[in-house]
Amino acid sequence: MDIQPFLDRRARLIASMDSAGGGVAILPTATEKTRNRDATYPYRADSYFHYLTGFDEPEAVLVLIAGQVDAGPKTILFCRDRDPDKEIWDGYRYGPEGAQQTFGFDEAHSIAALDEMLPGLIANQPALWHSLGFEPEWDARIGRALTAVRAQSRAGKRPPTSVHDLRAALDEMRLIKDGHEIALMRRAADIAAAAHRRAMREARPGRHEYEIEAEFLHEFRRQGSQFPAYTTIVASGPGACVLHYVNNDRQMQDGELLLIDAGCELDGYASDITRTFPVNGRFSGPQEDVYELVEAAQAAAIAAIKPGAHFMAPHEAAVKVLAQGMIDLKLLHGSVDAVIESEAYKRFYMHRTSHWLGMDVHDVGEYKTGDEWRVLAPGMVLTVEPGCYIRPADDVPAAFHNIGIRIEDDALVTPDGCEILTTAAPKSIADIEALMAEAKS
Ligand code: GLY
Ligand code: MN
Ligand code: MN
Repeated sequence: MDIQPFLDRRARLIASMDSAGGGVAILPTATEKTRNRDATYPYRADSYFHYLTGFDEPEAVLVLIAGQVDAGPKTILFCRDRDPDKEIWDGYRYGPEGAQQTFGFDEAHSIAALDEMLPGLIANQPALWHSLGFEPEWDARIGRALTAVRAQSRAGKRPPTSVHDLRAALDEMRLIKDGHEIALMRRAADIAAAAHRRAMREARPGRHEYEIEAEFLHEFRRQGSQFPAYTTIVASGPGACVLHYVNNDRQMQDGELLLIDAGCELDGYASDITRTFPVNGRFSGPQEDVYELVEAAQAAAIAAIKPGAHFMAPHEAAVKVLAQGMIDLKLLHGSVDAVIESEAYKRFYMHRTSHWLGMDVHDVGEYKTGDEWRVLAPGMVLTVEPGCYIRPADDVPAAFHNIGIRIEDDALVTPDGCEILTTAAPKSIADIEALMAEAKS
């Protein structure tokens, strides 16, 4: 494993702590979660913790000391000890010594020593870098360490006088992806795109949504992805108009559309792709009309992604195209400006066009700076996912009932505009129909 990206990130965080007056940062990883009785959910490290360490065992804490004080700068890992008996059951543990060497920390200690060492680590530091309010147990644990420091005031020990939000500092770093992250996101996008191609080949009337979900899980794991990045949505017929449909248990019928929103996680990084296609491999006239509208809205949104544009520019571009199209299809009446002003379009397009993408599918990073939408910059990754969802209603032309379409790709902001990472998933009607026809022949 190449630890350099993780060493670089720790150094950059310490540099930004230094420029804010220094201090000590404390970052625990995620805890194991019970699913039922003694069975646990598959373990996944905390995103921030993985970002800075690459170390994915549970029961670990990272302590970073900035450069202002004698002891700094220093990186310290607390982790589980080696345990030959437990390792027979659950597998290898690095232990502090192995983790220090493999992952490049200045020091490593047993997690069992943390509470005893914590007061000494925070004493006389100018600031504590910790995110309050996320994990009550950690707030209490740090509170106990502060109390222990105060008890030593006559020995010249004093607690930090300020607290900085550690996650806020890391969110800014995570918003701009480095080369290591972009390489992983490209691969996560490729794997998910391959799975979408597989789904297009396997879908047909009479099969169940879960059979298609199984194709995704198979392709993800086959290519080394550890997990789906979020619960896979395989929504046929009316389910396509339910934004977070996850039952995936319906038998798909001839003439219906199938909306699939599925992405994988690779070494901590997500892809997020939606494709919508006909179960029988041929778009009907009304399906084609709405599909081409959403495709045009997406093209307009993608054209709006470039450095200097603000975060909502792609959404505004998509809404303009969708609003005009909804009027043309007689789903709405009036002028484009009126439909946008009154937000009448939200009846058929009720979500935003983009979100940040990274380690978390809805990734961290502020969407606004003060009152202004964030300005896009190279290295940011965002989704572009316009849609149109037409539920049956008396005032809606019957031909469009239950047509739900979303097209979602992942865009990396580049110096000149953006690069779509997910182009390997077929998108045009011609490409989708050709792939599905080929699979049947
Ligand atoms: N799959 C979640 C989303 O598209 O935002
Ligand atoms: Mn998305
Ligand atoms: Mn999605």
